[in-house]
Amino acid sequence: MPFSVRIDRLRRDLELVAQFGAGPDGGVTRTSFSEADREVRAWLAGQADQSGLARRTDGIGNIFLRLPGGGDGPPVWLGSHLDSVPAGGRFDGALGSLAALEVARRLVEERVPLRRPVEVVIFADEEGNYHHLCGSTALVQDYHPDELAGLRGRAGNRLVDALAGMGWDPAAATRTAVRPGAVHAFVELHIEQGAVLERRNVQIGVVTGIVGLGGGELVFTGRQDHAGTTPMPMRRDPLRAAAELLTRLPDVTGSISEPAVATCGVVVTEPGATNVVPGVCRLQLDFRDPDRDRLLALERAIVATARAAAQRHDVAVTYRRESITDPVQLDDRIQRVIEATAVQLGLSTLAMPSGAGHDSQNLAKLAPTGMIFVPSVAGRSHSPAELTDWDDVENGGNVLLATVHSLATE
Ligand code: HGY
Ligand code: MN
Ligand code: MN
Repeated sequence: MPFSVRIDRLRRDLELVAQFGAGPDGGVTRTSFSEADREVRAWLAGQADQSGLARRTDGIGNIFLRLPGGGDGPPVWLGSHLDSVPAGGRFDGALGSLAALEVARRLVEERVPLRRPVEVVIFADEEGNYHHLCGSTALVQDYHPDELAGLRGRAGNRLVDALAGMGWDPAAATRTAVRPGAVHAFVELHIEQGAVLERRNVQIGVVTGIVGLGGGELVFTGRQDHAGTTPMPMRRDPLRAAAELLTRLPDVTGSISEPAVATCGVVVTEPGATNVVPGVCRLQLDFRDPDRDRLLALERAIVATARAAAQRHDVAVTYRRESITDPVQLDDRIQRVIEATAVQLGLSTLAMPSGAGHDSQNLAKLAPTGMIFVPSVAGRSHSPAELTDWDDVENGGNVLLATVHSLATE
């Protein structure tokens, strides 16, 4: 590869974008369709215009930036997401998005003759405020209008209202799917979000597959009572059953497989007052396993454990599945291109699975898809402590550039 990314520019962009939705502790909160998201979208549009990239946004808010040239065949896509979890880090999604922008600029600046079109794609709501992998899901299959109308964010607001608030027609969000074959290939650069590369002192991860991921809500219902006058043995406190389930989760996951994990990041009690025994307790669950059958077995085991806990505490429990995202294998040929590219750049590589979910998981249903990982310091992610060394950012950007160059000119 005769040219490389400009790390000074990529670093400037990462530092600048971290200011949109910046928190007090170095992290970011950039929920899709929030004020911070509007700001980053406006900034990106300006960058695209300056770089000669043609931009469009689809009905669900995915952004496409097309390089000049390449004809009108199926494009090579590269990109990631610019939304974050609440109090998230500066690199998750932003690295792959801004490195894709930098790759696009370098291909334009070097006037690389393209054999097929190249488009940077920034997926909306990857972090699932409204729906897990929301934007890329909409590329694989149109949302049914009823399903779309039912999607709400953490704050209880409706996705259709958020879309309308962006000035878009929510009806267009049900006409977003792309037909399989319409994309030549997709490549996503991402931080590892775990500690494997760092521990093994490897520079580039070549991702082999992505974990399966489920989400659902457990609602424990007991009896709302006075906190001062109801004797402890007389209570039917749903939070007790919920707490028992949560303490049992390590045993439940351990009974399924070694990589299985389950998390409850949201606990809500109702009515939610210190002097009231709650009547209702809601748990939002996230559970993962690299194997689909085991993922479903994990879901059944969690629900069975919740039922047993509910029975012991004389409360009721219901479960509603919200999503199952299948595990996927990534494309062998693209893995080989990434591997060869990294080796040519003198970088060490490791073939590895991803324990985090990614839009690539949906894109793999549309087109041959590959992912490049770079190390995360101490494996920290979904936290303001998220960090990747600038040398690793540069290495990842150069592997992305050479991989896309190869796919677009082959
Ligand atoms: O939750 C995930 O694994 C991803 O970061 N959205
Ligand atoms: Mn994330
Ligand atoms: Mn991400």
